[in-house]
Amino acid sequence: MRRPLVAGNWKMNGTRASVAELIEALGQQEFPESVEMVVFPSCVHVGQVVSGLADSAIAVGAQDCAAEPGFAALTGEVSASQLVDVGCGWVLVGHSERRLILGESDEMTGRKFKAALACDMTPVLCLGETLEQRQAGQTLEVVGRQLASVLAIAGIGSFEKAVVAYEPVWAIGSGLTATPQQAQEIHAAIREQLSHEDKRIADGVRILYGGSVKAENAAELFAMADIDGGLIGGASLKANEFGAICRAAGN
Ligand code: 13P
Repeated sequence: MRRPLVAGNWKMNGTRASVAELIEALGQQEFPESVEMVVFPSCVHVGQVVSGLADSAIAVGAQDCAAEPGFAALTGEVSASQLVDVGCGWVLVGHSERRLILGESDEMTGRKFKAALACDMTPVLCLGETLEQRQAGQTLEVVGRQLASVLAIAGIGSFEKAVVAYEPVWAIGSGLTATPQQAQEIHAAIREQLSHEDKRIADGVRILYGGSVKAENAAELFAMADIDGGLIGGASLKANEFGAICRAAGN
């Protein structure tokens, strides 16, 4: 049985004051014990959120890490070992906003994924196609290539501790959610690709769906066989929405 996981990606949002309010509001939510939860604040708020959620069941992650795991002359980057040092056990890698807006390559994503694991963090590997790629019938090819490049760099054994998130780019922040069937098709293909390397690991890896998940559509997505939870953007900035999505994952 895969334990459901709900992750909140706060992206480049928040001030110390609004983050304090969100921590406070999350503390008032009822969360199901069966669901694992993690939030990914901006790097500058990680320490504040680690302290603020210390007594909660919600873990804290970072939105990115450097490809070098330890100290290095790499101005502006934050290493996985530094994140661990401030109490952060999770990290997103290869989010489409980094791939498409900041030009992060498949190879760079693979190196970051490996660096996170080298520091004992849990990487959440984000995969997904653009609208043009979907319309050209290239979804499986694009997602398959993104996954294959990480497998080539980090190996199938690394997926024993990693999480995958399928986030179609056209569904992110657009209000357009993939239908449960559209998402399930890609989730099953991701698991199938992993199972060619190791069936046991493929059966155990959690695959999250991300892209306009809200309280109102979460339950039908999470009901699909290969959808093990969600990676939530906008809705994770509202404690009551995030709470409702977590409760949907627990049902
Ligand atoms: P939205 O939930 O705002 O569409 O964002 C999804 C996402 O990119 C999470 O990483």
